[in-house]
Amino acid sequence: MKPASEERSAPAGRVLPLDLPRFLTREHHRVHLVGVAGSGMSGLAALLSQLGHAVSGSDKVSTMETDRLQRLGLRFYEQHRPEHADAADLVVFSSAIRDNNPVLVSGRGSGKPVVRRAEALAAIMHAKRGIVIAGMHGKTTTSAMTAHVLREGGLHPSHYVGAEIPILGTNAHWDPRGEYFVAEGDESDGTLRCFHPEHSLILNIEEEHLDFYADLAAIEEVFARLIEQTGGTVFYNIDDANTARLCATRKNAISFGFSDTADYRGAEVDSHAFSSDFCVYFRGQRLGEATLNAPGGHNVHNALGVIAVAVELGIPFEKIAASLRKFEHARRRFEIKYESERFLLVDDYAHHPTEIRATLNAARATGRKRVLAMFQPHRYSRTKALCTWFGRAFDDADRVVVTDVYPASEPPIPGISGQTIVDEIVKRGHRAASYQPRFERVHCDIGNALGGGDLVLSLGAGNIHEQLSILAADLVIAEKLKAIVGEEGHVRLYEALSKHTTLRVGGPAQFWVEPQSEKTFAELIQFCRDENLPLFVMGRGSNLLVRDGGIRGVVVHPSGGDFDKIEVNGCEITAGTGVKLREVAYAARAANLGGLEWMEGIPGVVGGGLRMNAGAMGKQTFENVGRIRYLDSEGNPHEKHRDELEVFYRRFPLLENNFAISATFRALPAERAIIDSRLRESQEKRRTTQPIAKSAGCIFKNPDSIPAGKLVDELGLKNSRVGNARVSQVHGNFIVNDGDATAADVFQLIENIKSVAREKRGIELETEVEIVGEPE
Ligand code: EPU
Repeated sequence: MKPASEERSAPAGRVLPLDLPRFLTREHHRVHLVGVAGSGMSGLAALLSQLGHAVSGSDKVSTMETDRLQRLGLRFYEQHRPEHADAADLVVFSSAIRDNNPVLVSGRGSGKPVVRRAEALAAIMHAKRGIVIAGMHGKTTTSAMTAHVLREGGLHPSHYVGAEIPILGTNAHWDPRGEYFVAEGDESDGTLRCFHPEHSLILNIEEEHLDFYADLAAIEEVFARLIEQTGGTVFYNIDDANTARLCATRKNAISFGFSDTADYRGAEVDSHAFSSDFCVYFRGQRLGEATLNAPGGHNVHNALGVIAVAVELGIPFEKIAASLRKFEHARRRFEIKYESERFLLVDDYAHHPTEIRATLNAARATGRKRVLAMFQPHRYSRTKALCTWFGRAFDDADRVVVTDVYPASEPPIPGISGQTIVDEIVKRGHRAASYQPRFERVHCDIGNALGGGDLVLSLGAGNIHEQLSILAADLVIAEKLKAIVGEEGHVRLYEALSKHTTLRVGGPAQFWVEPQSEKTFAELIQFCRDENLPLFVMGRGSNLLVRDGGIRGVVVHPSGGDFDKIEVNGCEITAGTGVKLREVAYAARAANLGGLEWMEGIPGVVGGGLRMNAGAMGKQTFENVGRIRYLDSEGNPHEKHRDELEVFYRRFPLLENNFAISATFRALPAERAIIDSRLRESQEKRRTTQPIAKSAGCIFKNPDSIPAGKLVDELGLKNSRVGNARVSQVHGNFIVNDGDATAADVFQLIENIKSVAREKRGIELETEVEIVGEPE
């Protein structure tokens, strides 16, 4: 290894000027990168390795990128320890690294040269003819497009881009054969002023990164410096007022855009769902037609800049046009995560109001019915500074769910959250914007609102794409379920089970499915078996306590179609599993059949009544059952007579692993007047002894020694409560939901009652309600 330069022997703590370009591009050293996992830093690590340096790096996280770099020889430490920099000749740090980082502190303390990422990059650029792409929005896509077009044009460019670019292979590459170096310049921390490129391409300038800059003037100053330091041509977007103002007066400047006065002018744009056709003119002369394989008018704008650069570098227009047709944009830039006839899920990095508008615009242009957006604000400072703009950015979305702010190393600002943005959107008159402070629930809010023909967008620079990926994975299953139940059946994602339980509590069902026939129910059972998905059947949800985390897997709700059929045949009444027991009682009455009047008092459906051998007025379901039809765990149908069935108090084991289809009840001819008086008796009992409020019926089975309601009453627990769950004043075996109670409240109240009964009476109460689902 050659000595770096004479200043390496400088005393500790003193760093003499270093010829960094020479050090990095003409010599070989040991370089340590602090914060190497960041997208920009990992690119730099790749370049340094390709330049022949021995590269090490530290970060608090490892990523796919650090794994890849390790395979290429990076020595990686998944922590920051001072000794990591000991052997290094140079330390490079990311702007995300704080001043008190131990590696940075020890590097500085040792007197070895310590430089910022952009300084190292600018130095590397010195060895080539640099082209810097700068601007607030679109620079990753435009840098990638430039490198791609130059590469296709045979110029062998080296490149450095801030994200993974599938079409380029990697985010950074050093190609010793070519003269040019295309780099994305980062304006966020002012380091744009480090570059002295041959050419620069300026896309747009507006208020951004106000955590770093005081105002627009401060931002413009940095751009002005870059323009001044550009040795050759400045290519600039003439349609952006701030950019045009800064660049137009410069001698060596070439403009692009849609304005009549643009040197490279785009016109006759024809946008399709994921691409655009357009014509290009150079100072009034038609160069030809191009097709850009990237969505949105904003990308046509970016492409005009690239065309300007490429033509000026001598690449024939036809070759440029052919490259644009093949272009594949960066990850997280209108990246399609799922596509089917019914749904389109797209992820985009947009996190500034201008970017959000452009992306929503591109989403609209796909021609899908509705656009639903999930947006994760990025940084408290940006949320605060641009909140009014954000309020105006979502006009093109039919529905918006906003998460909390992704802090990106910033401390919170009191009073600033996702709600801040929702307030602004609502002020603007948008009627479907909501705040979801629980990040892991965002996909549920959007997924539950989904309808055929919808496009879902995840927007943000943080980790919102993870929520879209969960939705995409679940949609794959949901679409298969839909294919099984057909047009007449229903499938919903993340259906809130609080809507389907009489107690009105319970989290979401991952897949809510309403089949309409025995055949489709059987297919659902087989599908769940094949896919290893749990399957739970839910009727009216009247004796059910679903936990707040909801139910994972498929929740089948057999209602409608075959399941709602009721037939009277002589003294027998056959009813589908979705028929309410009350309806069975009234169908019997209509046919002058008696003995089923007690069913009037049961809130559940046939399936639920069978499953738990429900009872009232001293009777229970199986006293009246003649036979049942059910599907086994493989979806095969069976019929069994009452005497073949094993039944207990509030328990029917067969339906613990099998699925009811229908039941045939036996009744006896009776006079209408007698039937009516029994029905009245039941109604009267309900009216006088049971609460009308939201409840799950009786919570506990009656112990042999005493009815549970009486016991709770005697224990003085009526009206005791946890949150908004309360023991009914009317009947001690009912817990009522006074409004917005959670399953956790109810569950805790049940536990309280059980423990008092145990302590004071030595009675072990057993729940009658079925408790299902995941805790939160
Ligand atoms: N009682 C009290 N205090 C109370 C509640 C009840 O002293 O707060 C006394 C009653 O006065 C009565 C005895 O306890 O002497 C039994 O009460 P009730 O007649 O209301 O009947 P239950 O056993 O509590 C059963 C079913 C109900 C059904 C009714 C009416 C069970 C666990 N419950 O209640 O079913 O509606 O009979 O026939 O078997 C259900 O299962 O979800 C359900 C509501």
